[in-house]
Amino acid sequence: MRVGVLTGGGDCPGLNAVIRAIVRKGVQEYGHEFVGFRDGWRGPLEGRSIRLDIPTVRGILPRGGTILGSSRTNPLKEEDGIRRIKDTLARQGVDALVTIGGEDTLGVAARLCDEYGVPCVGVPKTIDNDLSATDYTFGFDTAVGIATEAIDRLHTTAESHMRVLVVEVMGRHAGWIALHSGLAGGANVILIPEQRFDIEQVCAWVTSRFRASYAPIVVVAEGAVPKDGDVVLKDGSLDSFGHVRLSGVGEWLAKEIERRTGKEARTTVLGHVQRGGTPSAFDRWLATRFGLHAIDAVHEGDHGVMVALRGTDIVRVPIAEATARLKTVNPELYTEVGVFFG
Ligand code: F6P
Repeated sequence: MRVGVLTGGGDCPGLNAVIRAIVRKGVQEYGHEFVGFRDGWRGPLEGRSIRLDIPTVRGILPRGGTILGSSRTNPLKEEDGIRRIKDTLARQGVDALVTIGGEDTLGVAARLCDEYGVPCVGVPKTIDNDLSATDYTFGFDTAVGIATEAIDRLHTTAESHMRVLVVEVMGRHAGWIALHSGLAGGANVILIPEQRFDIEQVCAWVTSRFRASYAPIVVVAEGAVPKDGDVVLKDGSLDSFGHVRLSGVGEWLAKEIERRTGKEARTTVLGHVQRGGTPSAFDRWLATRFGLHAIDAVHEGDHGVMVALRGTDIVRVPIAEATARLKTVNPELYTEVGVFFG
């Protein structure tokens, strides 16, 4: 068999570990050949690819990013996108395509497979951990580790100056990174997109923290929304899947806290630092297992499925099911961590 591999959407640590596992097992155990498509869906659209073999994937396990490149290209929005992809696959003799991506990339894979008969197998990735069919996506653990370390560091400088430090983390419309890093880092306030926040309450927590002679750390997810307002944005631009580019709520919060409490407040936006660099051991482990199970599915001709983590098992679920619903933080879990606020 000749198998295509692509990585689409926002990159995350662990993508190279998946590619390595697919190629190692695919070549060593099944004797398959591999084609790596460049830059997400742009690769098959424009016929841009590289040969993937064992020497190509040597040494990439601990490397962040993706050796294939990535993009947020949406082939369903491109003129003749589906036909161009099918032509490329036919021309290159590709029998099946492993698509490693989040909601958007996998959404395209589901349609390509179900509606246009392109044999696809999906692998879930995203630092946001917001795919409902899998307990965890790789990339999340690394992002949480980076955000937690940042919060630890911010505690000491906040204490030195007795100021409020607001930390804005990624996660799009899910509060997983904020919740996990905020709890692990001992934040005094954690704000997530799933629960609109009351700025008066945030200021009350900030004030009570100062009363205890400590400086407050406020962790806010980029998608968090104030109770009496709209999502706060630096700019309202959209990507090709129609998602608004989030960020801005951290700056807004610091200004509001300073105005309402009279305490100096500053913001750190962690941004793409959360997505870069070497994957954690857990993400390498999960990404590798996803890769091994994905090539098994391809080999068995089990198309239209995505590999997923359930407990400690890797299972297969329909790709369409995996992208149907966002996995968000439930109110009970958020209430549980609320004991540490203020
Ligand atoms: O989905 C991953 C993610 O990092 C989100 O947390 C964030 O909102 C978005 O991607 C940023 O995308 P980009 O890198 O395209 O600006």
